[in-house]
Amino acid sequence: MKLNPEGIRNILNKVKYPGFTRDIVSFGVVKEIEVEGSKVKLYLVLPKPDEKLESEIRNSVIKTLLESPGVSEVDVMIGARELKGTPGQARTVERAKLPEIKYFIAVASGKGGVGKSTVAVNLALSISKMRKNVGLMDADIWGPSTPIMLGINERPRSTPDQKIIPLEKFGLKLMSIGFLINDDDTVIWRGPMVHGAVKQFIEDVEWKGTDYLVIDLPPGTGDAQLSLIQTAPLSGGVIVTTPQDVALIDVRRGVQMFKKLNVPVLGIIENMSYLVCPHCSGEVDIFSKGGGKRMAEKFDVPFLGEIPIDPEIRKGGDDGIPIVVSHPESAAAKAFTVAAEKILKIIEETA
Ligand SMILES: Nc1ncnc2c1ncn2[C@@H]1O[C@H](COP(=O)(O)OP(=O)(O)O)[C@@H](O)[C@H]1O
Ligand SMILES: [Mg+2]
Repeated sequence: MKLNPEGIRNILNKVKYPGFTRDIVSFGVVKEIEVEGSKVKLYLVLPKPDEKLESEIRNSVIKTLLESPGVSEVDVMIGARELKGTPGQARTVERAKLPEIKYFIAVASGKGGVGKSTVAVNLALSISKMRKNVGLMDADIWGPSTPIMLGINERPRSTPDQKIIPLEKFGLKLMSIGFLINDDDTVIWRGPMVHGAVKQFIEDVEWKGTDYLVIDLPPGTGDAQLSLIQTAPLSGGVIVTTPQDVALIDVRRGVQMFKKLNVPVLGIIENMSYLVCPHCSGEVDIFSKGGGKRMAEKFDVPFLGEIPIDPEIRKGGDDGIPIVVSHPESAAAKAFTVAAEKILKIIEETA
């Protein structure tokens, strides 16, 4: 059998990250795989320097690979983040210089209209209730909507040294690509422009003091999204879906997109999952919920929860008061809080 990096990656998919049910590949540990004949060379990057973790992962990787047919020798190099000096692809990508942002969380979806921006806004607000200094970056070049959802209609100013000052609402810092576009401008964004815009967003905006930055990506999983993700040193990605089969098919592409760039998938959120009956408060299962959870199990990534359909979510989106602010006791707001708690736990345990 001829070995190749893809085959080795599939084998490594079975190696669990110590203490977790997830594998090291989905955790973003495997940065580079080189194969020469029957010799395998790996470059692994751990979220933090940790000797015990390092030797556990090293041992299980070596054991698993040597037990696989065709592998005669395994050389494992392990480093801790940052990515500087990572061989191969990662080096050629020009990443934005890290301003003092600790964690970057991207929110993605296979298609538009599934509630990606709603989730990004409410997650960012839920995180900001639990942690200080949260920012939201609306990078949806095709339909920036977070300023409306947060009821913001001013434009940002800049500092004397030409840094853009993010706007603030509900304690959240916000920067949107929409601030750079006039309402009647139909801008056709090409790949390089998209790439440049996000890099500029990270570098030229005064994010100083931001611990968590939530990024609302454009819908889809194509080149534009990929190039956006490449420019930000992401801590992880969240995938939003709805229960319908058509949306669920896209989840696979979302997972693949993050895996391709070695960005850990923080989890899947199922939005518009069910309806809370306004009369009896019972759950009405309209689109057959549960697909998001099944997808999460299938791809071995965490499931972050189900957000019900709630007319207040749409209303809040239009009026500029997100549900976690206007109705913190609603089932939807509680589901966002739980999802945010899970995300923080995963990020802070691993990053
Ligand atoms: N759980 C929900 N219940 C009711 N309306 C929702 C829900 N999630 C999103 N919406 C509404 O659906 C529309 C699309 O949501 P949006 O977040 O803009 O989607 P996307 O960013 O994926 O295009 C908006 O009007 C939003 O208010
Ligand atoms: Mg949107």
